[in-house]
Amino acid sequence: MSDEVALTVLFTAARVRDRVRELAADINTSYPAGRDPHLVSVLKGGFIFLADLVRALDRPVTIDFVAIASYGTGTRSSGVITLTKDLEIGITDRDVLIVEDIVDTGQTLSWLLNRLQARHPRSLRTVSLLDKRSRRTTEVGIEHVGFTIEDQFVVGYGLDYAEQFRQLPYIAILNRSPTDTPVR
Ligand code: PRP
Repeated sequence: MSDEVALTVLFTAARVRDRVRELAADINTSYPAGRDPHLVSVLKGGFIFLADLVRALDRPVTIDFVAIASYGTGTRSSGVITLTKDLEIGITDRDVLIVEDIVDTGQTLSWLLNRLQARHPRSLRTVSLLDKRSRRTTEVGIEHVGFTIEDQFVVGYGLDYAEQFRQLPYIAILNRSPTDTPVR
């Protein structure tokens, strides 16, 4: 870990826990009885949010995972997006809920929505813990948003900087030296 990075807590663990419970309550009421959602988590960043969300949902759910990578320029907004891990369970006629940790430019979510819609789910919605709305280049609809944040690089609660900090129970702003330029 570099000495040149410092963390400033943005959302404490307690605040994240409370907001996740609120999101779970909203999601519960948005799916009628008999329409239990099928959650699709986007690796890696969404894994902690997913784990807490499913335990806060007061109903049966099923879970699957995708992993997504981009190649080309190093940023998803101009690179080629591919699935590096596809779903293991078919989604045709299922009520699919995509679980993201953060939506930034919207490129990843837009691409994934198009890919999954082509498989004819019964419904397709998204929950994202964080929404960095000011960075959007592609408009995407997000039915459930935890927190809207400014254009700051955040880590913790699944989110990383160079694969570090995912394990933090809170969400923090990463303050870094001018020579470090992570992209998310
Ligand atoms: C993050 C996040 C989204 C994507 C959003 O993944 O989980 O999938 O970036 O960015 P966009 O809206 O600009 O497309 P990341 O690339 O950090 O990978 P990781 O989850 O494996 O850390």
